[in-house]
Amino acid sequence: MQNVPSVTITLDEQRYTLDAQENLLQGLLKRGAMINHSCLAGVCRSCRLYDAKTQAPLLSCQTQVSDPLTLVSQPERRYDLAVDHYHVAPLSDKWQWIDATTPFSLELAQPVLWQCGARQGRAFQCAANHESVQFALPSDIDLTRTTLKLADTRARFSLDPSAQAIVICDDVCLTIAQAFQESLAELGIAATDQVYALHAEQPYAALNFKRFDYAFIISSTAVSLTSIEQWLQNNRVRVEQPTYLTFADQ
Ligand code: FES
Repeated sequence: MQNVPSVTITLDEQRYTLDAQENLLQGLLKRGAMINHSCLAGVCRSCRLYDAKTQAPLLSCQTQVSDPLTLVSQPERRYDLAVDHYHVAPLSDKWQWIDATTPFSLELAQPVLWQCGARQGRAFQCAANHESVQFALPSDIDLTRTTLKLADTRARFSLDPSAQAIVICDDVCLTIAQAFQESLAELGIAATDQVYALHAEQPYAALNFKRFDYAFIISSTAVSLTSIEQWLQNNRVRVEQPTYLTFADQ
């Protein structure tokens, strides 16, 4: 029997492996994704998904997969924040803390795209409440001279409060990871009582054979899936859902 090549589809930051030439909607539904749909004939448009980068819409019921796709189920909403609509506080020598009043609310760990002048990047919601958006930006960005443009990516991310979580970070993001861990505790999510170093020289014996629902990997640069898997394997940790929260400038 001939092997069918597989194609990785990322929807709202969850990865699915579909067979090449499989129907996108059917393939994702079959693997547990929740996608609105109705006519299956390209008429009602309820099955629309969006390219995560270009925001171009695509009818999933009419798409056969051939190349990897990164999609979101809702288009981004974009906002400009005037300087008096957010508070800024130093977090460390690398990061400043933004606490903003926005027209939208975010779940803890939900991603936000930001743009400040010509520079843009990615952050995530660090607050456990829904009243403000809190995230960290590199401290060398002068926020007093510019309007902060925010995009709510609306990736459907919601944390199960009965979950167990582990927080892993690189050296640069240690203070953010600690703040994030406090927000997990506020939400009642059981997290490890320390954050773990992504680049630790030795495996952590205390993690041996532990199982977590979420691993939050908080990193200033993009981390490859392979190196995360390697880290988990070295530490003999099992995780249902690794979630990457990177701060890399784009
Ligand atoms: S389900 Fe109606 S257009 Fe796809």
